Amino acid sequence: MPQSDLPQRQATDALMLTGFWYRALPADRVGRGQLRQAMLLEVPLVIGRDRSGRAFALRDACPHRGMPLHCASFNGENLECAYHGWQFDAHNGQCQLIPSLTGDQNLQVDRIYAGSYACAEQDGFAWVYIPDPAPESAGYSKRGDPAEPAPQIEKFSDTYKLAYLTADMPVSIDHGIIGLMDPAHGPFVHQAWWWRSRHSIHEKKKNFEPIPNGFRMSAHTPSSNSAPYQLLRLYADADSITTTIDFVLPNLRREVIRAGKYWFSSLTTVTPITRHQCRIDVVAAWNMFRRFPLGAWLLKLVFSKFVEQDRRTMELQAEGLKHNPHLLLIDDADRPAKWYFQLKAAHLQAKRTGGEMKHPMSGPVTLKWRS
Ligand code: FES
Ligand SMILES: [Fe+2]
Repeated sequence: MPQSDLPQRQATDALMLTGFWYRALPADRVGRGQLRQAMLLEVPLVIGRDRSGRAFALRDACPHRGMPLHCASFNGENLECAYHGWQFDAHNGQCQLIPSLTGDQNLQVDRIYAGSYACAEQDGFAWVYIPDPAPESAGYSKRGDPAEPAPQIEKFSDTYKLAYLTADMPVSIDHGIIGLMDPAHGPFVHQAWWWRSRHSIHEKKKNFEPIPNGFRMSAHTPSSNSAPYQLLRLYADADSITTTIDFVLPNLRREVIRAGKYWFSSLTTVTPITRHQCRIDVVAAWNMFRRFPLGAWLLKLVFSKFVEQDRRTMELQAEGLKHNPHLLLIDDADRPAKWYFQLKAAHLQAKRTGGEMKHPMSGPVTLKWRS
């Protein structure tokens, strides 16, 4: 067998990409005047909400001697460290007061900053921008603001419903992401009597095309075993249903399903928490099922079952991955996973050289697999 026919060996690097927005936590978990801990890319954060309702993110360590700021007292405007009472502006981290200073000591308090991160609320989540390079945890400079706003779910009408699901996965970001885009595990992991069995496996053919920083599964009639499709079929005329699925670096999977005036749109992210742990957040928006009261409930039920099956699988997979085995990625079922690794490498290469990112796909590609 010629070498090129053998599956490619692939080592994941678990490298976490800085310079992007990441989902930190569901917005409904932090009320006005509250502080919550979060971790992104091994950066401990405190996420809070000021008295006017605006969210903010600080590094969870006081720039004085490292006391966690989630233990601070918070008056809805400034945080007061629990150790020596230094006070910081919640939104930019600027020091407001050092209580131990005497009247004749002229330390410029306002030149001291706690680590602060751009924070935005979008579609039910607090997002935090992790800059590149990472800021020092304490210092004398104000943070810069990201050029791009936090990613949004695409919506096609003014009124819609929104729901989210979140699950921790005990695997690195790379395994979380390639698990998310893997088309071949469905019949084995997502079996259910009301859904499908391994005997329903059939050949599929899908067209992919390059898009900036990612790739798209071109608009097609959704696979008969996709969850939202099954629900949509209860509602709209099956012939008119099309779906588009995009993957975009660092971790975004967008799926848009349209059926005439009805639409379903989701933005799923896999967020690196540490090198060995990630979290999947599925946020969906839709404008159907309004006359069908069980719709939202059913949708959540189906999704949570799916996500739980993936989580359980990855928990087991983590056991096998503990000692860093080499992995074999095959064509065509693992081609999206290969594109992900190539995109990531191209992104890092462009960053190193300061040049344009060279997209690994030169044009449209058709992939075939059985699932
Ligand atoms: S450690 Fe925070 S004020 Fe000293
Ligand atoms: Fe899955």
